[in-house]
Amino acid sequence: MGHPTHEGSIVIPYRRPEAGSQPGTRYDAYRSNLRRAPAGPLIFLPHTLSEVTGPIYGHGAISETDNDLTRQHAGEPLGERIIVTGRVLDSNGRAIPQTLVEIWQANSAGRYIHVKDQHPAPLDPNFTGTGRTLTDENGVYRFVTVKPGPYPWFNHYNAWRPSHIHFSVFGRAFVSRLVTQMYFPGDPLFPFDPIFQSIPDEKARQRMISRFDLETTQPQWATGYKFDIVVRGPEATPFET
Ligand SMILES: [Fe+2]
Repeated sequence: MGHPTHEGSIVIPYRRPEAGSQPGTRYDAYRSNLRRAPAGPLIFLPHTLSEVTGPIYGHGAISETDNDLTRQHAGEPLGERIIVTGRVLDSNGRAIPQTLVEIWQANSAGRYIHVKDQHPAPLDPNFTGTGRTLTDENGVYRFVTVKPGPYPWFNHYNAWRPSHIHFSVFGRAFVSRLVTQMYFPGDPLFPFDPIFQSIPDEKARQRMISRFDLETTQPQWATGYKFDIVVRGPEATPFET
């Protein structure tokens, strides 16, 4: 069978994603990727022990409000309060417990706290836009935040990003680290966004869109969105930086 365990010398490789389910190495309509796209074909390297095993992250450094972006300052941020939750899964659909999930996002007006973001929308003194947490024993993570606004960028004339939250997930090992973006259902900007459209496969694109969930929604307090993340394999959430 040829797949001894990690104790042996042969390593069980990761399953490869389906063609078209991830962005290509180059997508002409997304201009800033042209300068970083590889010029030649990719070289596939066999997986070795260091690609399928990983570090164990400690718990101590994560504080109580790290997964609640509405409680990191003296007051509450303006905007639509939301709960974002879901599971982190491996390529065989198994939950990944105790893995680090980090997010960053614009505020409800669509503005980042970043020197490069100077477009005329207000900063919010009560919102930084970064959070992190560990998944629980069932691979579940949960954040409280505000819904980010869409924002303009310079990719092409009248370019606007759909509302999104950036995610970084560490998974089981270094090579299962995933950086992606979570979108909101029904966003009218999807057809015009070359980052979203750079993934050719329609089903793969849908895996980046969260779904509204009434059970996650809390009465008189916050609407809820579900977003499961698959770190590798044919069902993987597409990689988007
Ligand atoms: Fe962004």
